[in-house]
Amino acid sequence: MFHKPIIALDFKNMDEVNAFLKPFEEPLFVKIGMELFMQNGPEIVKVIRNQGHEIFLDLKLYDIPNTVRQAMFGLGKLDIQMINVHAAGGKKMMSEALLGLRDAGSEAKLIAVTQLTSTSEAVMQNEQCIPLTIDECILNYATLAKEAGLDGVVCSANESNMLRQHLGEAFLKVTPGIRTFSDAVGDQVRVATPEFAKENGSTHIVVGRSITQDPNPVGKYNRIMKAWEKSC
Ligand code: C5P
Repeated sequence: MFHKPIIALDFKNMDEVNAFLKPFEEPLFVKIGMELFMQNGPEIVKVIRNQGHEIFLDLKLYDIPNTVRQAMFGLGKLDIQMINVHAAGGKKMMSEALLGLRDAGSEAKLIAVTQLTSTSEAVMQNEQCIPLTIDECILNYATLAKEAGLDGVVCSANESNMLRQHLGEAFLKVTPGIRTFSDAVGDQVRVATPEFAKENGSTHIVVGRSITQDPNPVGKYNRIMKAWEKSC
């Protein structure tokens, strides 16, 4: 099934969001992350949803299981289509998150962040002290997420094929770190083009600065959409 590229609305306030969204004439799939949510609160989710856009609420919850469950219960009352936790919180935390979300009556997809796309294998091994390859670590986290009943994971496009082979097509592989050849990589490390992401089995791509910082965001979105769609 085809899913539109998810645009990361990494802006400070609604004025910036409105200025960005104005030239788009169609409903989009957008990601509200910490930058926008923490500075504007849950109200901003309602405002953007009321404009007809689908919402991935990317708050990456990570705390003890009971706290995450209660937080998910609160967030589950928002009309959102996707939300996430950190897989590093463990299987119990992930299954409690799911209970909190469903108790609130939400049918949003719940996915787990494996390793951030800004984390390299060396940083994972040296700073997180995980003595595995990054693929082994991601497969472990993704397997735990699946066992906890989650719908999928956030990973880089480099890992999507491995996860497709082990955990199936239907398990979501939502991949940020998307860049076209002309884009700056910035703080991301595990980056990929939309075409590579599709060929490698990503079910969704998340694109931020490649679109939001472009002088012609609608044109760039359409080019990325075509590249992503064409490789379907
Ligand atoms: O601007 P850029 O395309 O790098 O934005 C990527 C977006 O995806 C950011 O909002 C970032 O918070 C988010 N993200 C990520 N890596 C993850 C999970 C989310 O880059 N593992």
